[in-house]
Amino acid sequence: MRVPLIAIALLACAALAACSKKDETTGLPEPLTEAEKVALIASLPEPYHSADLANGASKFNGICKSCHSLARGGKNLTGPNLFGIFGRKAGTKAKFSYSEAVEHAGFAWDAEHLQGWLAGPRTFLKGTKMSFSGLKNEKDRNDLIVYLMSETGYRTPGMASPPAP
Ligand code: HEC
Repeated sequence: MRVPLIAIALLACAALAACSKKDETTGLPEPLTEAEKVALIASLPEPYHSADLANGASKFNGICKSCHSLARGGKNLTGPNLFGIFGRKAGTKAKFSYSEAVEHAGFAWDAEHLQGWLAGPRTFLKGTKMSFSGLKNEKDRNDLIVYLMSETGYRTPGMASPPAP
């Protein structure tokens, strides 16, 4: 049986349309539900296990929010959107123009790299254009890092799946 040409043409169009729909959120995980945030924290080792999310949120809102959005598909501001930052290679958010220092950092972000970065961005990656002097208090950094995990779609392998609603 011959496949009618028109069917092939339609399929090709459908495939193209799917490609052109590709947007900023393609390939990004879903944001965590409230139950998943609880499961995330439960699965983390210390010091993150006892993190205070409310303090992390207040640090983010007070210091970082003017330059960074966290939402899935959120805009780049003075700094890049941070959704999906854990496991993402430094300096690779689309449509953001990084300094050479960050673009060539050569690592993927995890809690350990964020500790160094947030304590003193300009000593951690010399030449960065992130003008922030650093968060010196270790407890604040821990809380902020867990808040970032919980808001940017990060899931640990050890996270128990949340009970069905
Ligand atoms: C004054 C604006 C500003 C503030 C405040 C700021 N950032 Fe940034 N941030 C930037 C800029 C600009 C970059 C890109 C740096 C570069 O390319 O050198 C950046 C980069 C980053 C990156 C690396 C992103 C990537 O895609 O590799 C992370 C993570 C980050 N910031 C987290 C934070 C957190 C958390 C805070 C709050 C403690 C914060 N930033 C505060 C402007 C800011």
